[in-house]
Amino acid sequence: MEIVILTGAGISAESGLGTFRDKGGLWAQYDLREVATPEGFARNPGLVHDFYNARRANMRAARPNAAHRALVRLARDWPRDGHGGLTLITQNVDDLHERAGSPDVIHMHGELGRALCAACGARWDAPDEMHPLDPCPACGARATRPDVVWFGEIPYHMERIGAALRRCGLFVAIGTSGQVYPAAGFVAEARAAGADTLELNLERSQTSHLFDRVETGKAGRIVPAFVDRLLQAG
Ligand code: OAD
Repeated sequence: MEIVILTGAGISAESGLGTFRDKGGLWAQYDLREVATPEGFARNPGLVHDFYNARRANMRAARPNAAHRALVRLARDWPRDGHGGLTLITQNVDDLHERAGSPDVIHMHGELGRALCAACGARWDAPDEMHPLDPCPACGARATRPDVVWFGEIPYHMERIGAALRRCGLFVAIGTSGQVYPAAGFVAEARAAGADTLELNLERSQTSHLFDRVETGKAGRIVPAFVDRLLQAG
């Protein structure tokens, strides 16, 4: 059976990275129209770079937690069929899944650790700090931006994600509030394909009613327990 896992900010909360919509979350501190839209970037690129520079610094100081590590174990030990046994999709722009050791993480909202040239489309590893006048290493244009997906832009890897959802027998959402599409619609796509669906989240979310089963608690506790159960059941 193929498993698709979708993670959100809640899986990195115990690593010290802030979530978006919890009390005191990032979207309570910042106006997302100013820092997470192409229009906001056009108006004030310095402000947007400062926001992502601060988040990149937090990410580099953070460490993966027990939930990230449990998913590495699952990728290693879950039996593979012809398509590969586990597809890990994250909405997170942090690199904690990779630093825990997960192979082949699908970053549908991009990565803080990567930079993108808005003029020529080149991508490269982001330095610790990015600034509006940084030239693109490929074409020299001063149009560099973090390689993250903003509101109003199309998430990455949607074809690959759609194919995995159509094949999967189990879909698990971890630490996501289910308020941002298209990710919030994955549970319905997986159900339509006949998959069993499970939500693991601190508390019930807006989309809990769409899942077959819901377990609440901190990811650092409930994700390793879920992986243990799944691997024991084989
Ligand atoms: P949210 O901040 O909307 O939701 C985080 C979820 O994690 C909430 O449902 C919390 O209850 C839960 N949570 C908090 N701490 C937890 C813990 N220790 N263990 C388990 N769950 C916990 O974050 P996302 O759903 O990831 O997109 O947000 C989706 C997208 O909205 C982000 O990728 C970002 C944001 O705007 C863009 O910037 C395009």
